[in-house]
Amino acid sequence: MKRKKLRVVMAGFGNVGQKMAAMLTGERDRYPGLAGLELEPVAIVTGRHGGLVDPKGIDLGRALAQYREQGGFPAAPMTALQALETLDYDALVEISTLDIAGRGGLAMAHVRAALERGRHVATANKGPAAFAYAELAALARKKNVRFLFESAVMDGTPIFCLGRALRGLNVTGISGIFNTTTNFVLSRLEAGESMASAVKTAQQLGFAEADPANDLEGWDSSAKVSVLANFFMDAGIDPLRVDRRGITGVTADDVARARAAGRRIKLVCRAWRENGRVRAEVKPREVEAGHYFSAVNGRAAALRLEFDMLGPLWLLEENPDLMDTASGVLQDLLAIASES
Ligand SMILES: NC(=O)c1ccc[n+]([C@@H]2O[C@H](COP(=O)([O-])OP(=O)(O)OC[C@H]3O[C@@H](n4cnc5c(N)ncnc54)[C@H](OP(=O)(O)O)[C@@H]3O)[C@@H](O)[C@H]2O)c1
Repeated sequence: MKRKKLRVVMAGFGNVGQKMAAMLTGERDRYPGLAGLELEPVAIVTGRHGGLVDPKGIDLGRALAQYREQGGFPAAPMTALQALETLDYDALVEISTLDIAGRGGLAMAHVRAALERGRHVATANKGPAAFAYAELAALARKKNVRFLFESAVMDGTPIFCLGRALRGLNVTGISGIFNTTTNFVLSRLEAGESMASAVKTAQQLGFAEADPANDLEGWDSSAKVSVLANFFMDAGIDPLRVDRRGITGVTADDVARARAAGRRIKLVCRAWRENGRVRAEVKPREVEAGHYFSAVNGRAAALRLEFDMLGPLWLLEENPDLMDTASGVLQDLLAIASES
């Protein structure tokens, strides 16, 4: 099959970027669906681990090997933003760190710069759609390019492409369990482990961040429910406006008491319409044993969509890992490649 080559700027080359690079190079034979896609970066820029820039194109497999062997790249000759503003490329792959305090931070500038120049965007970073979905989607429409973020919520689960396929349906409510780390920690608390030990286990298994505060305090969930509410309900909200309480105040006694009453504590995210506007919250809630949320165990995640004339509809993701996240960005890039 002839491969469609996309010239990209990669902002970030951490877990997700390296997994994408591996799936497109050394692991390519395992994924026949990627046969038609080739990524040729003209820049790969990180935060503290340098970068590579070559307008003629960088070999992705060699870049991955170099990063792994040398623990990073040489000092980057330009920032990701400068690369996006000056180089020739087809799409931005925005996979830098989520910045809630900075309202999306540099990722927002990266996405705006690419869209302004009429370049497509594929991002796993929740910041841009959580803080400025309406503005960025309008800019993408004006420039006739795609702004895609399939991995921003529940990794590669096809939520947003499902949303784009809906015809005539109005989403009236959203709920779900979106944060893997907190759901895992709550499951381990039920098994008698302490919160500190459960967080450490999650870190050792490689899915909790070194600083798990964004997860435990509910910021990651707030970002995800904002992305969903903005996309499906035209909410115009952001993570700082979500009524948020994480799981740091949940004790082993709380979990045991709920268990004894046949219930489980889950970090539940919700968005709904009230008095003409959309409200959103993230709160630990006791859910009944028979409720679908009660069956979301360990690292799983679930989304429930309510409509005016369908459903409710559920999507359940079992134990996602980095492959799932990388696959979401690759699904976005395949969509972009099929249209360019
Ligand atoms: N991992 C997951 O399972 C998952 C799931 C869904 C969504 N996401 C989202 O996907 C994105 C990437 O996740 P990850 O796990 O790959 O994170 P990560 O391993 O922490 O990597 C983040 C990357 O961003 C780079 N970076 C930081 N500031 C930058 C800047 N100013 N310009 C360019 N690059 C910059 C970092 O460089 P340094 O290392 O040099 O600082 C690193 O290469 C995040 O927004 C995350 O929230 C991740």
